[in-house]
This record gives sequence, C-alpha cells and structure tokens, in this order.
Amino acid sequence: MKYNLAFIGFGTVGQGLANLLWEKRGFLRERYGFEYEVVVISDPLKGSVYNPEGLDLGKLLSLVKETGKVAGYPEGKKGWDSLKSIRESNADIVIEVTYTDIQTGEPAISHIRAALKGKKHVVTTNKGPIALAYRELSELARENGVLLRFEGTVLSGTPSLNLGLEALAGAEIREVRGILNGTTNYILTEMSKGISYEAALKEAQRLGYAEAKPDADVEGWDAVAKIVILANALMGGDVKVADVERKGITGLDISDIEEAREEGKRWKLIARAWGEGDKVKAKVWPEKIGPEDFLANVGGVTNALIVDTDVLGELTMIGPGAGGREAGFALLSDILSIHRLLAG
Ligand SMILES: NC(=O)c1ccc[n+]([C@@H]2O[C@H](COP(=O)([O-])OP(=O)(O)OC[C@H]3O[C@@H](n4cnc5c(N)ncnc54)[C@H](OP(=O)(O)O)[C@@H]3O)[C@@H](O)[C@H]2O)c1
Repeated sequence: MKYNLAFIGFGTVGQGLANLLWEKRGFLRERYGFEYEVVVISDPLKGSVYNPEGLDLGKLLSLVKETGKVAGYPEGKKGWDSLKSIRESNADIVIEVTYTDIQTGEPAISHIRAALKGKKHVVTTNKGPIALAYRELSELARENGVLLRFEGTVLSGTPSLNLGLEALAGAEIREVRGILNGTTNYILTEMSKGISYEAALKEAQRLGYAEAKPDADVEGWDAVAKIVILANALMGGDVKVADVERKGITGLDISDIEEAREEGKRWKLIARAWGEGDKVKAKVWPEKIGPEDFLANVGGVTNALIVDTDVLGELTMIGPGAGGREAGFALLSDILSIHRLLAG
C-alpha cells in the first residue's frame, strides 16, 4: 500500500523521520509492503513545497543539509502554510512535528483538528495537543474514521504508549511511575558527582540537552505533560495538566544531594500516575530513593518507565528519551502501525 505523507514542521524530529524513511525505503517495501511519497513539507523558516505526485526526498534532505531550507527545491508549489498544506494537499497521513506549547497546545491542536476533520491520519511527537486535548482529538479521529498516534510524546523512540495500548491490551494498568525527563535526570546525575546545579545546567545546555530557557524541563512541566498523556491514554483517566501536583528540581542544592548520598540514596524527578477509587491521579515530584528502587540506578539522559499491571505485575521500559532519530523512529513505528491496521 502506498501513502502520501505531509510534514508539518521540518526541524530535528521531522528530518529524523525523513532520513529514516529515505534510508529504509527498500526495507519498508520488502518487509512490510509499505510505500510512500512525501507530497508536502511546510515550515515557516525552511519554506514549503508541494507536489501531489511526490517530492524527491533524497534531494530535499541534501538541500536542507546544504542550505537549511526546502524553499530552493526546483519543482512544485511553494509558500503553502501549514493549514493549507493539511487541508488542500492530497496527503493521507499528516506528520505533526511543530514545537510543543504546553499552555495552549497551539499551533499543533489546530493542525491536528484540521487533519482529522479532513479525514487524514495523524502521527505526532508533540506533547501539547495530546496532554491538553486527548479526549477531543481521539473522539474527532473516531468520528472521522481515521487514526491518531503519538508514541513519541513519551520516552521518545523507546516503546511506551503503543506497548501499553497494544501488547498490554486486556491488562489493567494500576500505576505508572518513571523518569520521563532526560534533562533533569542528567542534571541530578551530574550533581551526584559533586557538581553544582548551575554548573550541571550549563553543561546540559552546552550538550544540547537543555534549552537556553530551561523552565519546561527543570520546573517539571515536560514531565507533567508526559504523565498526563500516560494517565489518560493508558489508564483511561481524565487528568488535566492543572490537576497534577508538581515540583521541579530547582529547589535541590548540593547539600541535599550530599545528604542523600550519605544515606545511600539518590534524588530523582519521579512522575507517577495511579488509580484512586474511580479516578486517576498524577504527580511529578523530586524523590529521594534507595538502590532497591530500579529508578535510582537510571542515570544521565536515559528515561525509564515502570508499568504495574494486574496480570503481569511490574514491567520496566528503559531507553533514550530524546533525539531526532529516536523521536523520528517513534513516528515511523506509528506510521507502520497505521499501515498494519489499514492493510489488514
Ligand atoms: N527533539 C526531540 O528529541 C524530541 C523528542 C520527543 C518529542 N519531541 C517533540 O517533537 C516536536 C518537534 O521537535 P523538534 O526537536 O523537531 O523541534 P524543532 O527542531 O524546533 O522543529 C520544530 C519545527 O516546527 C516548525 N514550525 C513552527 N511553527 C510551525 C507552523 N505553524 N507550521 C509548520 N511548522 C512550524 C519550526 O519552524 P522554524 O524553525 O522555521 O520556526 C521548526 O522547524 C516538538 O513538539 C517536541 O516537543 C522532540
């Protein structure tokens, strides 16, 4: 089966997926019977290009590498903004990879709404729309007979959501608990070596793990968005971002870390969602945990998630929680999951 793909946003993750699609095109065709054309790419600064017959992805990737833009592509229609690209192109799968805004979810919520209303499947790594509008968007997908997939919003390319939704179907998930933010885990790991918060943050910024304005990570907002997604998508909750008790890591200093070390413990920013009566609750809080707790041994930018089920007890996923190629892989696995469902 052949699919027409639309890229809305063409930054780190968009290009990560595009490179994987390009490198693996033969393998995807032979192993899964999956074929594709990229018909449109729309991005404010890199430009946009649309050709209903398909763009030469190899040529486009070279162009972006050399010039930082897609606008110089020799053929096709230019200048289509994201909503026009979603509504008027002949794409059947929209890849939403614009920036995350955890306050409003925009512009991604509008992109996803437009795609679903236009009966186009959507894959995204954008936490904003799924944390803020999961129920509305999944209902819209159902009403329009299309699929919405968002594996890469939690743990990036390391399986979490689809594993829970598909492989664990039939098991009741009683609790999820994990380290969902690599930046804060890196900072806390560095601090446990005796480095100050400020120096650890600076190093995280130098290595590209933390943004210049690091609040979304260090104040716990990123982990809040992820635990809300897990609570609602995996546990059937109706948790809002504002319901989550939240504390980041900025209140911890080197003396707290030293004290924990003397007790044989480590500070970790733990995100947790659990069932309480008929409700699901969630919390993101720094916790001092001992070596008997698996999460105490997860260091650096690595993420980990422990899922407690009624049938199997605890299962643990551990792996990279960020990176263009890793998050691009989550999108690829979502696209293939859509293909499996459609191809039968
Ligand atoms: N990077 C990771 O490791 C990772 C992992 C998991 C999830 N995610 C999530 O995946 C998404 C993409 O991340 P990223 O790292 O690729 O970010 P990025 O490099 O900043 O790319 C985002 C792209 O979206 C473009 N954009 C902004 N507004 C747009 C609009 N209205 N229409 C179309 N394109 C628009 C930006 O364009 P300009 O630059 O031209 O303004 C930029 O090229 C984010 O939501 C992020 O939270 C990222």
